[in-house]
Amino acid sequence: MDTIKNYIDGKWVVGGSGRTFDSINPADRREVIATVSAVDKSDIDHAVEAARKAYKTWSRTPAPKRGEILFRAAEGILREKDRLGALVTREMGKVLKEGLGDVREAADIAYYMAGEGRRLSGETVPSELMDKDMKSVREPVGVFALVTPWNFPIAIPAWKIFAALIAGNTAVFKPSSLTPACAYELVRILEAAGLPPGVLNLVNGPGGETGDYLVTHPGIDGVSFTGSSLIGEHIIKTVAKPGRRVTAEMGGKNAIVVMDDADIGLAVEGAIWGGFGTSGQRCTAASRVVVHKDVYNEFLDRFVAAAKSLKLGDGLKPATDVGPIVSDEQLKRVLYYMQLGINEGAKVETGGQHCTHPGLEYGYFMEPTVLTGVTRGMRVAHEEIFGPVVAVMKADSFEDAIDIVNATDYGLVASIYTRDTRKAAVAERDIETGIVYVNASTIGAEVHLPFGGFKRSGYGGKEAGGRGGALDVFTRWKTIYRDFSGRLQKAQIT
Ligand code: UN1
Repeated sequence: MDTIKNYIDGKWVVGGSGRTFDSINPADRREVIATVSAVDKSDIDHAVEAARKAYKTWSRTPAPKRGEILFRAAEGILREKDRLGALVTREMGKVLKEGLGDVREAADIAYYMAGEGRRLSGETVPSELMDKDMKSVREPVGVFALVTPWNFPIAIPAWKIFAALIAGNTAVFKPSSLTPACAYELVRILEAAGLPPGVLNLVNGPGGETGDYLVTHPGIDGVSFTGSSLIGEHIIKTVAKPGRRVTAEMGGKNAIVVMDDADIGLAVEGAIWGGFGTSGQRCTAASRVVVHKDVYNEFLDRFVAAAKSLKLGDGLKPATDVGPIVSDEQLKRVLYYMQLGINEGAKVETGGQHCTHPGLEYGYFMEPTVLTGVTRGMRVAHEEIFGPVVAVMKADSFEDAIDIVNATDYGLVASIYTRDTRKAAVAERDIETGIVYVNASTIGAEVHLPFGGFKRSGYGGKEAGGRGGALDVFTRWKTIYRDFSGRLQKAQIT
């Protein structure tokens, strides 16, 4: 296997640090997926400089032309979908169907943003004066640092890269050091699609060192980060300043409400998918299910039975329902929360253990876990666990359920299962999250509407989508007044 290099100014280069690191298969840590060459500070300087230089031409390249390159990249992603989907599974563990979904989502945003190249629309409105035009137009922001997580190792980089590039920005991309092979493949596809040198640069290295140096670099005009609240809040505090745009997509403590009139079978399926899909390692994962007291026992029995029947294993095997946790560190964090929950008085209905059964002993497998006895004040009720752990909580009424949903600092996603249209509408209005689902799980956002959370879940702007979403992050608005009257006209003055 060749060592993965860094992509700077259109060339694949060995990092100046002289160091390498490995990415490994979390289902079997004996398998090295890639060895990666780490950059040093001067490589990052060089990457930022290359992006600044390329900005002059790229920002002036007509957006429909930029869109053509992105369109070719979308086609390239789909051509390689099967291989890339399997790579996602091998490098971060999610089951193959979801690995393929990750790749599909990247192609979706690529097609969508390619189309935006022929739109990128602003507003044209009438002036209050004669012979005067007025309009608002979108302009690129400059050079972006794009810092991405491991849980959607193709889709989330694609959300940022395609939106940044269609708008005319250039970028330095720093992927998670757990998923460098996926990042490499995405950049290689963009290179093959004809992206000019310097427009997108890839730098690999550990988050702390490489990421910190990049996001605080004076040549960076904007930072788009997705990851933990801890790091996101650190970036916001250290990096945001006038003239530098910072957006952070952070954690969630998402809830599904199951009302007494819900289709319980459907709600169980939704809670299984939301709670245990991607082994709970989505920022959209349903880590709480808030059930009306009248259907609590029925729901819990069926949910626990369904959780018990899930098959844990290597995500490449067709029979597997739930793959591993991404790393030893993440597994330890989930186990820490298990112990904490028990200490706080939660009851483990099923799961709760690191699974080391024969065949799984070399992976980071965590049993799908259901907790009960979790009340609002407990830390496991409001801190993000990011693993296959779901707390089933009891609500006395509809109003109580909505209160429980809102009783966290996070506000990314929530869902409600009910057959009552009025309750659905009130929930849509009163739930304090950036995304609300009705009779569907908490995961399954599509790329052409904004994605992002309220409260501690998001800062500065949203991912994906056009107006109100990623295009507002990656463009700045300019307002233009053009007077062709040939006289001094004065607005507001009569
Ligand atoms: C994330 O968890 O960080 O709706 C992104 C979803 C996916 C995106 C999740 N389409 O779960």
